[in-house]
Formats: sequence, C-alpha cells, structure tokens
Amino acid sequence: MGIERLVDTTTNIEDSEEQILENSLRPISFNDYIGQERMKNNLKVAIDAVKKRNDGTTLDHILLYGPPGLGKTTMAAVIAHEMGANFRVTSGPAIERAGDLASILTNLAEGDVLFIDEIHRLRRAVEEILYSAMEDFKLDIVIGKGPAASSVRLDLPKFTIIGATTRAGAIAKPLQDRFGLVQRLEYYTEDEIKKIISRTASILNTEIKPDALDLIATRSRRTPRIANRLTKRVRDYADVNGDGIVDKEIAEKSLSLMEIDELGLDPADRNMLKLMLENYGDRPVGLSTIAALTGDEETTISDYYEPYLLQMGLLERTKNGRKITAKARRHLEKMV
Ligand code: ADE
Repeated sequence: MGIERLVDTTTNIEDSEEQILENSLRPISFNDYIGQERMKNNLKVAIDAVKKRNDGTTLDHILLYGPPGLGKTTMAAVIAHEMGANFRVTSGPAIERAGDLASILTNLAEGDVLFIDEIHRLRRAVEEILYSAMEDFKLDIVIGKGPAASSVRLDLPKFTIIGATTRAGAIAKPLQDRFGLVQRLEYYTEDEIKKIISRTASILNTEIKPDALDLIATRSRRTPRIANRLTKRVRDYADVNGDGIVDKEIAEKSLSLMEIDELGLDPADRNMLKLMLENYGDRPVGLSTIAALTGDEETTISDYYEPYLLQMGLLERTKNGRKITAKARRHLEKMV
C-alpha cells in the first residue's frame, strides 16, 4: 500500500512509536482482555484441561482467523501467558526457506508457543515441513542433492503452533486439518470498544469525558487497534490545543482533522465507494475492477477495506461481484 492510512490495519512497522505503544497497551491475561467472550471460554477450557491432565501433552495447535486489528496476536500472547509458556513470534512471509523453519523449530523448548502470523502466506515447501512437525513433532530434513540425497527424521520438543490469518479459506486444507482448535475473532461491540478506550486512556493517564468516549468509539470501526490509535491521536490533540482533557469538542475537531467520518470511514474507504458509485451505480463490480479503479492490490481490498464495509452494510457481496448499498449511497451523498 502506497499511502499510510490512519486506519491501516497492517502491522508492518515493527519498532515504530505506534508499535511500541500498541505493545504497551496489550492485555496480558484473559482477565484484562476485553471482548471475544466465546473464544475466551473455549480457550480457557482447552488450557485448563491440559493443565489438569498434566501428562506431558501440550495444548492443541490453534488457528485464529478474522479481520485485521481485532487482536489475534494479542490473544496468542495471552494464551502463551496463561499456559506459562514462552511466546515466540514469526510470520508466513518471514520464513523464506524450509531451512528457516527447521532452525526455528529445532530451537523451540518443550511447551513453547510459536505464533505464525499471516500463516496463509507460507510457501508450499515450508508448509509441507510443518505438517509432520505439527502432527508428530518430527522434522523431516533432506541432506544433500540428487541420488546421494538422504533424509533424516529429527525429534522435536512438543510445542503449540498458533497460526493467524485474515481468511481461514486462504490456507490449504491439510494445514487447516492440523489445527485442533479453529477460532474466529468477531468485531467488538460498541460497549467493548468503549471499555478498551477507557482502559487505554487510563494507561496513558488521559481523562476522556463520556460524550467524547462515545464519539471515539463510534469511529473506531469496532476494532481495538484503531480505537487505540484514535485515542492516542485525540490525546495528542488535547495536549497541544487544550489542557490535555479530551472533551467532545476536542475529540470532534481532532477526528475531523484526521478525516474520519461518523461511520469510521477514512478517505480511502470513501474514495473506493465513490469510484464504485460513479462508475457502476448499484450494479455489481468484480474485485479486479475495483482494484484497478483504486490502484490497490485485490487482497488489500478483500482483506483490509471490505470486512468492515460489509459489516456496516455499506457493501454487499453478490455472485456477480461487489455492489454498494443504499446506505452507502446515502452516506456518500451526505459527505459532499
Ligand atoms: N487492547 C487491544 N485489544 C484489547 C482487548 N481486546 N482488551 C483489552 N485491551 C485491548
């Protein structure tokens, strides 16, 4: 993506101020993780069962899927914490060769949790090694090339893989089958988002008035990562333009400066909807056409823009493509 979007839900900026802040705001345990109640209950049962059995078996491999920014990495870290396990992090695109994975796996200790973000982007050759590693805790490696090549099987410590992906459908069936627990993250309710913003504000030592809290929450796309980013921006604005207290006026001004509208849409979302409306009205449009119109990758549209727009009833998916809804049309008309 060329433009840095304020509501950008990717995490490619590893050590930026944004990332450090995000890490400092992350809940550590189930107790301070707000929302995703169903998932937490399922995970608690699985974790308690392993602890209770205490027979040397480890927690099943877990696949977490859902739109970006809803807390997959955070949840994985919480699971490791609840298990009292080390938390190791990598990602699909970071594991370039089979040898990279072999070295990660042989360096794990018994009980470790290995988090693989964007697991749908693993290369095929790497993925195949992962199959037997996940199933039997064995690593099959080929030594040498051609007729002289031989293969050896190494024992691995028992570990738990937590994979994360924006789309469960994007990962190969054999890989999916190796996850004992598959859990979807849901968009948060407005009430949960408010609790997250309040928690963040208190960590940041910032006072947010109730009506300002409501306003920030409605614009956070039901997504904690965005709620936290907006909270920080609004707090900066209050520090610079006021006495540091976030009241409704400060929140309104700051959000309008960021061009986030009342549905939480940013200029990139509105631009996409506008281009669809101008060029196709309410007729369906194929993903590749939308990508050509906005100049984005198709996966950027399907994984980053679309989930929230669908959730908000601004976009509809039909068998002939995507089309914008009457609600989106009304919203765009109001914005001009
Ligand atoms: N910060 C980000 N996500 C959170 C969550 N689900 N609960 C509490 N704090 C959070």
